Amino acid sequence: PKNSKAQDNTEGEIKELQKSLPNETWFVWPMYLYQGLWCLKYTLEGVIAFRTHFQAHDSDIILASLPKTGTAWLKSVLYTIVNRKGLSSNNFSQHPFNSKNPHELVLNFEMQVYNNKLENHLNLTEIPSPRLFASHMPYSSLPHSIKTSKCRIVYVCRNPFDTFVSIWHFYLRFEASEGIKPDMEMMEKYVDKFCTGVSPWEPYEDHVLRYWKESKQNPQKALFLEYEGLKKEPKEHLKRLAEFVGCPFSEEEEKGNVIDEIIELCSIKSLKEMEVNKSGKVVPRFENKAFFRKGEVGDWTNYLTPTMVEQFDQMLEKLKMAGFCF
Ligand code: A3P
Repeated sequence: PKNSKAQDNTEGEIKELQKSLPNETWFVWPMYLYQGLWCLKYTLEGVIAFRTHFQAHDSDIILASLPKTGTAWLKSVLYTIVNRKGLSSNNFSQHPFNSKNPHELVLNFEMQVYNNKLENHLNLTEIPSPRLFASHMPYSSLPHSIKTSKCRIVYVCRNPFDTFVSIWHFYLRFEASEGIKPDMEMMEKYVDKFCTGVSPWEPYEDHVLRYWKESKQNPQKALFLEYEGLKKEPKEHLKRLAEFVGCPFSEEEEKGNVIDEIIELCSIKSLKEMEVNKSGKVVPRFENKAFFRKGEVGDWTNYLTPTMVEQFDQMLEKLKMAGFCF
């Protein structure tokens, strides 16, 4: 079967389930607590179907991340590393990024592949290997076959301050469309939600910590990357990433500046300038341009008050105690 859609829950069953679950709001979206995960309304069906049906292949590469931590960036880098044959700055204008946003080239399981409403009728078994996918799900909630197969997981994390500020700008677009004006009180409310784990998926620190631990215990399985590190030393990070996914750069490629070309092609400046990212939409609810804002480290200093920073610091204690520091 394609995605075994026939066995999936009906719309009515999902609605019934939603009624029975604890709920909260995340900006304009309802959010439900399903098996320990805060799922935005439009992801619940996909979460269930993904966990029920996905069969990993040993050659699969899965990008895991929390929202607004650099997912689109890593998707573009991974896609380019894996499909780099013939890449040269001379032919950037013909690259798939000109007609497709990274979210269309590397699909998210719970929001795209397994979400019926997007009418994504993919035949997963026909996708050439290595298949590239993405997910925001916590490690513990991933389908069994991802954990037991030899497929590889690349995790990207970003400091929670900038992650929050990015979330704030991204979701406010919808608030604005519903006529709600953001103010300091509203920001405080969302900092509070974020820092107490009432935010999509699982609490920030648990999400990061679990993937980080997996990368330490099982380095063949999971590669843990930091947005800030990628910004600072992109070349070193791309080399590690390419090796990890089994597509290392040859000496010839290194001498021929292929790595620099990938860095340039996947830079926020370059992606922002693509026509498809100025006007297109990946899925009905998201404009492509919403995915490319500033792409800087430290923008949070322009937004967060000392009290808010303290709340983040408290949340980070758990990570620090486990030996993880930004
Ligand atoms: P800012 O809002 O801080 O600018 P995600 O892809 O997980 O939704 O993350 C979005 C964040 O990554 C946004 O951060 C966005 O601007 C930034 N971003 C997108 N493309 C990028 C790129 N090529 N390089 C660096 N950052 C990028």
